[in-house]
Amino acid sequence: MIDISVVQICRGVDLVDRGRGVRFEIEIDGHVTPAFVIRYDGAVFGYVNQCVHMSMELDWQEGEFFEKTGQYLICATHGVIFEPNTGRCVTDLCSGSWLRKLNIVERGTGADSVIFFVQTDTGTSIDVPVSCDHSLS
Ligand code: FES
Repeated sequence: MIDISVVQICRGVDLVDRGRGVRFEIEIDGHVTPAFVIRYDGAVFGYVNQCVHMSMELDWQEGEFFEKTGQYLICATHGVIFEPNTGRCVTDLCSGSWLRKLNIVERGTGADSVIFFVQTDTGTSIDVPVSCDHSLS
């Protein structure tokens, strides 16, 4: 039997499309780990808040994960960018790497919707994380 836990993160209206994200914490292998959710093209996505380049959180100001056009997520430290809906890195630096995607669901509609993180004992990720081995010269 799979053990499932569901954690409420925020209200749906707290996530503006391509706007500020909401930070929260999850436990991975016994360690409290930062994570975040964002809304992009109407859907909600969540990731571990850790860059694939170095072990840094992405947001340059709390909750600011999108670059200025609102098309991509960006790491504030060295500017690596990611697709908001997949977590795939699309810059040369760290190309082929992925943010660690979380299982996020939105239940309800309009002002009554709520965002949840669904965690199973088989893992928190629905995509296999691929870390980058590039370093800056
Ligand atoms: S730590 Fe994120 S781009 Fe370098």
